[in-house]
Amino acid sequence: MTPRVLIVDDDQALCETLDAGLVRRDFHVAWCTSGDRALTLIDEGDFDVVLTDLHMGRLDGIGLCQCVVQRRPDIPVIVLTAFGSFDTAVAAIRAGAYDFISKPVQIDVLGIALRRASERKALHEEVKRLRSAVSTAPSDSRELIGTSPAMCAVHDVVARVADSDASVLITGESGTGKEVVARVLHKTGRRREGRFVAINCAAMPEPLLESELFGHARGAFTDAKEAHVGLFAQASGGTIFLDEIGDMPLALQPKLLRVLQERTVRPLGAAGEVPVDVRVIAATNRDLESAIEERRFREDLFFRLNVIHLALPPLRARGGDILILAQHWIAKTAAREKKSILGISPAAAEKLVAYSWPGNVRELQNCVEHAVALARYEQIMPEDLPDKIRSYKSSHVLVAGDDPSELVPMEEVERRYILRVLQAVAGNKTAAARVLGIERKTLYRKLERYGTDG
Ligand SMILES: Nc1ncnc2c1ncn2[C@@H]1O[C@H](COP(=O)(O)OP(=O)(O)OP(=O)(O)O)[C@@H](O)[C@H]1O
Ligand SMILES: [Mg+2]
Repeated sequence: MTPRVLIVDDDQALCETLDAGLVRRDFHVAWCTSGDRALTLIDEGDFDVVLTDLHMGRLDGIGLCQCVVQRRPDIPVIVLTAFGSFDTAVAAIRAGAYDFISKPVQIDVLGIALRRASERKALHEEVKRLRSAVSTAPSDSRELIGTSPAMCAVHDVVARVADSDASVLITGESGTGKEVVARVLHKTGRRREGRFVAINCAAMPEPLLESELFGHARGAFTDAKEAHVGLFAQASGGTIFLDEIGDMPLALQPKLLRVLQERTVRPLGAAGEVPVDVRVIAATNRDLESAIEERRFREDLFFRLNVIHLALPPLRARGGDILILAQHWIAKTAAREKKSILGISPAAAEKLVAYSWPGNVRELQNCVEHAVALARYEQIMPEDLPDKIRSYKSSHVLVAGDDPSELVPMEEVERRYILRVLQAVAGNKTAAARVLGIERKTLYRKLERYGTDG
């Protein structure tokens, strides 16, 4: 970016000297010799920073500063003060100046100050853009933040299927927002007046999970002193969310399949069937297709659950959403911690975008909370970020550099690339095969040949 500077000084010779010096340092420069003319130029033009002298005819530097702060608070003003006149420097800062520079001007020092000030304006603009990106998300699904193409596709499917009763399977790496999506589906759908009941299928041993889901009659087993209404019945009229479905015990899977097919449940030890009226949403971060092949998950159940498939993209595939989400949590966390933090410095933003985010949105949220707690300025700086993000080096180098002894055969390049892709998709072979554009069987064969399962 070439910063656009407006110089205001009644000494025309000084204007010309500064103009020449700054143009050589890659600035766009305009200048004028009065405060009134400066205001006209500011209204007409588009400046990143204003540099003004203090003593000039009718409208002096302090007055100009006040006008700019009122009319264009996004444009920082730097004031030129006489050497050693501390009082006027204080007056300038009070009038809203961003910085002051004392005469005689050293052009290099001036260049640095101007560049820093103009970056501040760029930051203001970025914050404004991110704020509006956050607030223009459709109001119903605003909890699901993201405007990247990958997330727009998710928003689109969510909007189209929320009102239906068809089962939804949500897949995606850990922390990609599967539960958020499930809740948005419920809240924006026809069943929103009903309950949203969630259960983690990985968290319980099989018998307990069975009675939690389907309920049991009094005396159904030794400890069953009271009857228990299962979650399917509790969710009647609403939605049941079966989280971590990939970890559901194999023995329980046919029972769940029956409920989905018959739309009735029979509580343990009960005499009759109870009709259920629920929408089923299931989620998993596992590769269900591999689980089916390894006979850990029933294929018929998979088809029942997977009527609509929502695959959440990993955060690293969401581009600018990283910064939009970060901005969202900076605002939230800063308000909670009562800190004044405007946004992210360009250098820190670069680190956030480059990092691979294996823990996805959840990891980003933790990272922002960490950074806000440590931040000392009104921007998040790289040093506020956790070590592993600050020092992250992406490993795009698959082939060696110029050294002929490091050149590798084609097959080795392929091996490295496949392992790199697997790493990027957290070992999910279905996803890896899709990225690589090969059959999953082919991928398995290659991994076998490398003597690794990835
Ligand atoms: N698009 C999003 N917009 C706003 N917040 C999000 C988004 N995606 C995820 N989050 C937040 O990130 C955190 C993790 O999301 P969630 O619990 O839904 O992930 P998950 O996919 O269910 O993860 P896991 O597989 O580990 O259970 C939550 O705090 C959630 O609010
Ligand atoms: Mg979850």
